[in-house]
Amino acid sequence: LKLPSNELERTLIAVKPDGVQRRLVGQIIQRFEQRGFKLVGLKMVQASHGILSEHYGELRTKPFFQSLLTYMSSGPVVVMVWEGHNVVQASRKMVGQTNPAEAPAGTIRGDFSVHVSRNVVHASDSQEGAQKEIQLWFQGKDLLDWDCYDSNMW
Ligand code: PPS
Repeated sequence: LKLPSNELERTLIAVKPDGVQRRLVGQIIQRFEQRGFKLVGLKMVQASHGILSEHYGELRTKPFFQSLLTYMSSGPVVVMVWEGHNVVQASRKMVGQTNPAEAPAGTIRGDFSVHVSRNVVHASDSQEGAQKEIQLWFQGKDLLDWDCYDSNMW
């Protein structure tokens, strides 16, 4: 199935420091691969307060903003760009509600977390948000557009 380019979306998924520390990176990547999405960018970063303040700019006035930055800079994050049909909305469903207490079993947060302040993973909440976040975390040259070399095998 070759999707027309106007149906191809990209989203930013980040495994947060607690996800990295709990060795959940592989399982999280596996869920997106299994679903059929395509990994087009991946890196591990020790995020600065600067980039995190920009990423979470809309939350600047929230009471949890400082603790969110402390948490998100407490260790490396694994930041990824996934591509595919309806990937923004599908990823939000796969990740589950922001508050893990509300996230059903079968979602990443529902399976791996219990508290909003350690909710393992981030997923862009809209196509516009995804575009901004992808530009913030990645240079264009680090997003790779690839195809299967041998289409008889996959
Ligand atoms: S809000 O208040 O509706 O704008 O916030 P929400 O959309 O629910 O969450 C936005 C991001 O803030 C994180 N968050 C928190 N982090 C730490 N502590 C507390 N109490 C907290 N509450 C919300 C939440 O996980 C969202 O982060 P991302 O990375 O986007 O999932």
